Amino acid sequence: MALIQAGLIDQLKDELEYNIHYDGQVHSYSELIPKEDPDYRNMKNPLAVSAVTQTLSKQVYEHAKEGRFVLTLGGDHSIAIGTVSGTAKAIRERLGREMAVIWVDAHADINTPESSESGNIHGMPVAFLTGLAAEKREDIFGWLKDDQKISVKKLVYIGLRDIDRGEKKILRDNGIKAFSMHDIDRHGIGKVMDMALGWIGSDTPIHLSFDVDALDPMWAPSTGTPVRGGLTLREGDYIAECVHETGSLVALDLVEVNPSLESEGASETIRAGCSIIRCALGDTLL
Ligand code: ARG
Ligand code: MN
Ligand code: MN
Ligand code: MN
Repeated sequence: MALIQAGLIDQLKDELEYNIHYDGQVHSYSELIPKEDPDYRNMKNPLAVSAVTQTLSKQVYEHAKEGRFVLTLGGDHSIAIGTVSGTAKAIRERLGREMAVIWVDAHADINTPESSESGNIHGMPVAFLTGLAAEKREDIFGWLKDDQKISVKKLVYIGLRDIDRGEKKILRDNGIKAFSMHDIDRHGIGKVMDMALGWIGSDTPIHLSFDVDALDPMWAPSTGTPVRGGLTLREGDYIAECVHETGSLVALDLVEVNPSLESEGASETIRAGCSIIRCALGDTLL
């Protein structure tokens, strides 16, 4: 809501001339949150997160299957279980194509319930979306079917700098493409984007999942798990601009904006979030 109150929708309508379908409400999904939600396989709030992401997945799917670009504002990054699964299924049905995901984040969010040290599901969405983690119980992500998942080969990370030990092994064992802050220091963001998009290949539909904590806390302090040594605002915008230029972007998540944290920095964080969204949707400098 903070992003929208900052004028995001109007910017997209007036400056970028998008035709917006927006229901004008923040979905808190409180009716889906059970009273009792005990830990399960080390996951915290498993029933709640599963129910919310399942509903979100259907909503995103319904829009994407009409050929709309779907922008989701969050919120905890666990919501990507819903957004990516929704677009992956719609793109398969509409275009008969497998979708790629570009995950811009300080974190890899690819823990399995067993590898996670925190039990927080926001550290696990990529594991569920790629099938590296799975659960039979329908009410705990068992609803995720193959046509809603993505291949580890079509996944690219940018901005990583805080990866758990178990996650490093998962990334290595599965040959997952990742560009860390070290790679960005070495090659520069221009070269890194060439390599990242080259890995995906041209003409592949792309879902961009952008965690605002990929940016350095100097630009985006109001987020749950800030990590120093991150992207500059310009590097973040550049990533979004390059993805736009492919012409293949089908959906965008901008997540982990939390104005209640470090509230002196909330307006900076919100401005940064809005800027990344505008860039991904085609705002150009000249
Ligand atoms: N790797 C840590 C964990 O599994 C941190 C994940 C942070 N993710 C996020 N969406 N903020 O708990
Ligand atoms: Mn979170
Ligand atoms: Mn994340
Ligand atoms: Mn993160």
